[in-house]
Amino acid sequence: MSSNAKIGLFDSGIGGVTVLREAVKLLPNEEYVFFSDSINNPYGDKSDEEIISRCDEIVNMLINEKGCKAIIIACNTASAKAVKSLREKYSSTPILAIEPAYKMVHDNNPLGFTLIMATKGTIQSEKFRRLYYSYYNHKTSLLTCVGLADLIEQDKKQELRDYLNEHLGAYKGKAQNVVLGCTHYPLAKKEICDVLGDVNFFDGSKGISTRLKYILEENDLLSDRQDGCTIDFIDTSESEEAREQKKERFFRLLREEQI
Ligand code: DGL
Repeated sequence: MSSNAKIGLFDSGIGGVTVLREAVKLLPNEEYVFFSDSINNPYGDKSDEEIISRCDEIVNMLINEKGCKAIIIACNTASAKAVKSLREKYSSTPILAIEPAYKMVHDNNPLGFTLIMATKGTIQSEKFRRLYYSYYNHKTSLLTCVGLADLIEQDKKQELRDYLNEHLGAYKGKAQNVVLGCTHYPLAKKEICDVLGDVNFFDGSKGISTRLKYILEENDLLSDRQDGCTIDFIDTSESEEAREQKKERFFRLLREEQI
């Protein structure tokens, strides 16, 4: 495998841009290909079989057509359901998975109550249950956010505010720590703060990027380019116009600094 091969990332849409942002900060001279599976968005309510089969198609394409040297599953739901079978099948390529950053809360031991937000698929998964019970303490609540990733994906601002008011309102003044257990959710940090006030956010994007860097170093796969990164964006929306809009928003979000 050439060290100048690409790094492949994928998500059910553009939410995984929050992972790519961190990867580019740590590894600024790599070539990336980001696959946004808009046509199948959202993944959160799909069956295990559907997700495993779709992820298999995507990873097969990223490895065998795009020649990727490593894969990041930039989606908590797909990570929870498909990483095991993907690693078994594509054992010669490093495949990195993201998970809700509950361990990070445990390690940092912040004061106050923690709210974990994630999709139904993530919360019901065995992988998440293991994580949750490994670090559980009574100052934690789980919130299954059905439909939230979709509102962020579709950029429906007013519906997003209404959703957050309805579902997060009860945690105002209670939750001080919020685990953003879906890669779309960091894109709504401002709107979450508008409901909850000033909270500490935890997400897995830095952790997975740090792990990627370590794995590339270990396997002698770091790019030797010195002229910055390249990013190839692929989206599966049906129309050309929708694909162009996704691309434009993706690169705008990539450049935006997070709060
Ligand atoms: N970004 C995906 C995640 O991290 C969104 C899931 C969905 O499409 O429902 O879980």
